[in-house]
Amino acid sequence: MSDIVDVEVLENGCAIRVVWQDGRAARFHAVWLRDNALDPETRAENGQRLITVNAIPADIAVDGAAVRGDVVEISFRPEAKTVCFPATWLAANAYDHGADTFAGRLPEGAVPWDGSFEPERVTQPFDAVMTDDGALADWLGCVRSYGFARLTGGPTESEALLRVVERFGYVRETNYGKWFEVRTEVNPTNLAFTGLGLQAHTDNPYRDPQPTLQILYCIENSAEGGESLVVDGFAAAARLRDENPQGFALLSCHCARFEFRGQDGVRLRSRRPMIELGPDGELVAIRFNNRSTAPIIDVPYDQMAGYYAAYRHFAEIIDDPAMAPAFKLEAGESFIVDNTRVLHSRRAYAGEGTRWLQGCYADRDGLYSTLAALEEQERTAAQ
Ligand code: OGA
Ligand code: ZN
Repeated sequence: MSDIVDVEVLENGCAIRVVWQDGRAARFHAVWLRDNALDPETRAENGQRLITVNAIPADIAVDGAAVRGDVVEISFRPEAKTVCFPATWLAANAYDHGADTFAGRLPEGAVPWDGSFEPERVTQPFDAVMTDDGALADWLGCVRSYGFARLTGGPTESEALLRVVERFGYVRETNYGKWFEVRTEVNPTNLAFTGLGLQAHTDNPYRDPQPTLQILYCIENSAEGGESLVVDGFAAAARLRDENPQGFALLSCHCARFEFRGQDGVRLRSRRPMIELGPDGELVAIRFNNRSTAPIIDVPYDQMAGYYAAYRHFAEIIDDPAMAPAFKLEAGESFIVDNTRVLHSRRAYAGEGTRWLQGCYADRDGLYSTLAALEEQERTAAQ
């Protein structure tokens, strides 16, 4: 695939057309090629671009293009500049394909799941993830594919969850602190700090941006009940879209509102949709939390009844046991969710024993960055 057999200048130099050995072809615009040139005057050694888009002549054109071994050599006018692009680089960065604009489609690499999903598939021993880069990469890869992963056999001590985050990224500190205690409290600031059951939710939709990762780490769990459940919010949104396209459109095209005012001096508010789509229809984020949904006032009067019917339908899908694998966290076990995608819930607990979890937030950029670096390292080692 990587060998180029032909290159042709199109439209008086506005673009080129490259043909690879396997018959695949792709067009590239002159301005795009100039902007992405790989020469040292355009790109610093650290990979950052040295030029601005407005420094490129508006009438930039390809003056000539030729295949030279495994690179394509391109000269531009009026700049009189010649640069080379490796055939593999052009193949990896080709954009000459139809854009997928299907509303509610999954992001690349996301694998949807339902209640039949076995948490064991995404579970690793704590020590392996702490000490072995391969195990860490596998575990982080589960977060990327499924938005959910678990650890077993960790220490049953306070703050062990911070060691997990430090392995791939950074804690997001909030008004709840660097981490927070999840156990029954007198005068709780949040209903999570009671023995009540919690409907499946994403955490902190009242923040903008919402935390993109959450870890819940169990230190003690001898109480009756308190099982954890997780729901793939992207799968739930896709199901809503299939069962009720109009409802899906209402939840994705209008902003909901979220608020937290449980602590003195804290008034967190956001205005964002329950189902957020990118400009090309890709699922970006789910925000769903019965406890912190504020009065919704951005839906026109004549659409509010429909909006609420859609909200109810989405909640019914989220509450459907067929969507949610359940498990009980043992002491020393923890799980991580992509909080823009996977909802978590807890059954009520009571009785003699103690239930003590700690929670914290982190962000996905750090996790994805560590994963990409580990994968690059693995590829280099394999060569
Ligand atoms: C939370 C939460 C669930 C649990 O603290 O965000 O949802 O299992 N807790 O206690
Ligand atoms: Zn929660």
